[in-house]
Amino acid sequence: VDNRQDFKVADLSLAEFGRKEITLAEHEMPGLMSIRKEYAEAQPLAGARVTGSLHMTVQTAVLIETLVALGAEVRWASCNIFSTQDHAAAAIAVGPNGTPDNPQGVPVFAWKGETLEEYWWCTEQALTWPNTPTGGPNMILDDGGDATMLVHKGVEYEKDGKVPDIETAESEEHGVFLQLLTRTVAESPQKWTQVASEIRGVTEETTTGVHRLYEMQRDGTLLFPAINVNDAVTKSKFDNKYGCRHSLIDGINRATDVLIGGKTAVVFGYGDVGKGCAESLRGQGARVVITEIDPICALQAAMDGYQVTTLDEVVDKADIFITTTGNKDIIMASDMAKMKHQAIIGNIGHFDNEIDMAGLAKIPGIVKDEVKPQVHTWKFPDGKVLIVLSEGRLLNLGNATGHPSFVMSNSFADQTLAQIELFTKPDEYPTGVYVLPKHLDEKVARLHLDALGVKLTTLRPEQAAYIGVEVEGPYKSDHYRY
Ligand code: NAI
Repeated sequence: VDNRQDFKVADLSLAEFGRKEITLAEHEMPGLMSIRKEYAEAQPLAGARVTGSLHMTVQTAVLIETLVALGAEVRWASCNIFSTQDHAAAAIAVGPNGTPDNPQGVPVFAWKGETLEEYWWCTEQALTWPNTPTGGPNMILDDGGDATMLVHKGVEYEKDGKVPDIETAESEEHGVFLQLLTRTVAESPQKWTQVASEIRGVTEETTTGVHRLYEMQRDGTLLFPAINVNDAVTKSKFDNKYGCRHSLIDGINRATDVLIGGKTAVVFGYGDVGKGCAESLRGQGARVVITEIDPICALQAAMDGYQVTTLDEVVDKADIFITTTGNKDIIMASDMAKMKHQAIIGNIGHFDNEIDMAGLAKIPGIVKDEVKPQVHTWKFPDGKVLIVLSEGRLLNLGNATGHPSFVMSNSFADQTLAQIELFTKPDEYPTGVYVLPKHLDEKVARLHLDALGVKLTTLRPEQAAYIGVEVEGPYKSDHYRY
């Protein structure tokens, strides 16, 4: 770990490898690269100080360098302890013009395999801007909402000058979070209040982070405007679905190399992520079973040809279990006790509370063993072994490298346009949660057509008038579902 500069990554000597992969990724990210060209002169993010909390991968490196190309200053942390690609982090710290001996890149605080303490320290570093008026960013780019939560909880606790007793923490992670808050409030009693005062907005990447934002809006505690990037069509209907269709089986294969064909796989949840996961497992020849609580998604799954049933019905028969719900307590220790020998269990939802890892560890006589990083066996007293991927954290980023560049080019083009919206048009976005305007959503899709050889049909004016749209769009009403 290098402490000479304002960053912390695993190994700067990986920067050259990272740069090679970033260069390959740029070609696969036409959305981001054409945004760089389009805005090169205008520099819409000049003056923006963007704190990013998002998986520090090769694709994210292209996003970071796009924000910089548009004029922003950037500080970055990963939003998950296992998701950093160390070569990408090294390349970002070194920068395109630096060397490992003379790093000149972006302050990045991320490495694969952080402890929880380190994770929150990295988030704090990304939010701490030396030599600036408030000591903080004026924009946040978030994935899962942890950076946004740290600022909001900080402000809440600074109001009455104290943080709840660590003894009251709901989980180990919450305890670590409270510890960090206690320290920051002690060091600088108005740190987060000051930081929040200058933040123009946050753009949020994922379903789970968006839930948190709408909750704060409902409770009246939201401190600045937010754009829900997740619900851009070119995000959730692409990244969540086609991204997971690619990276779910990538993770299972790299972790276990077990033949998926012929196995029975249970996918919990048939939302956007579940739909992509189910399709990828079926593509490998698995028999896929879905569980759902929503009758609409359950019916969709049935119409798509999947068996839809409850966990109880299949718990002792299935070979692979994948949670995609964004909900908690989906697979409990008592369920795992009923599973077959060498069943594989993994989660692809944002947080690690879908699988009851704490309950599993408490089963009397159970023995955990590491096969390799992020792949563990859990041996029951009767000799049965279960294989758990990434300790219940999102396995596509823990066991593989997350989504590929082309799909992330869509999500990150949405992110970049959302950052420009909030930063340059504060008057149009009073505190609240917004989705990206549809013309920008359509623009992002348009930026990806050429690369795939897509030839779009142009509406004739009389056709446009007949269906009640402009020739250049938007083409659908806001409630259209795609
Ligand atoms: P979604 O809301 O579209 O789908 C979740 C589905 O789970 C819903 O249909 C819901 O009815 C169902 N569900 C809820 N509780 C359930 C239960 N107890 N049993 C069975 N089904 C249940 O959300 P989306 O977009 O599919 O995202 C799911 C999670 O994946 C979120 O945490 C999101 O942040 C995360 N995500 C992860 C990605 C990754 O790369 N690993 C990429 C995109 C999203």
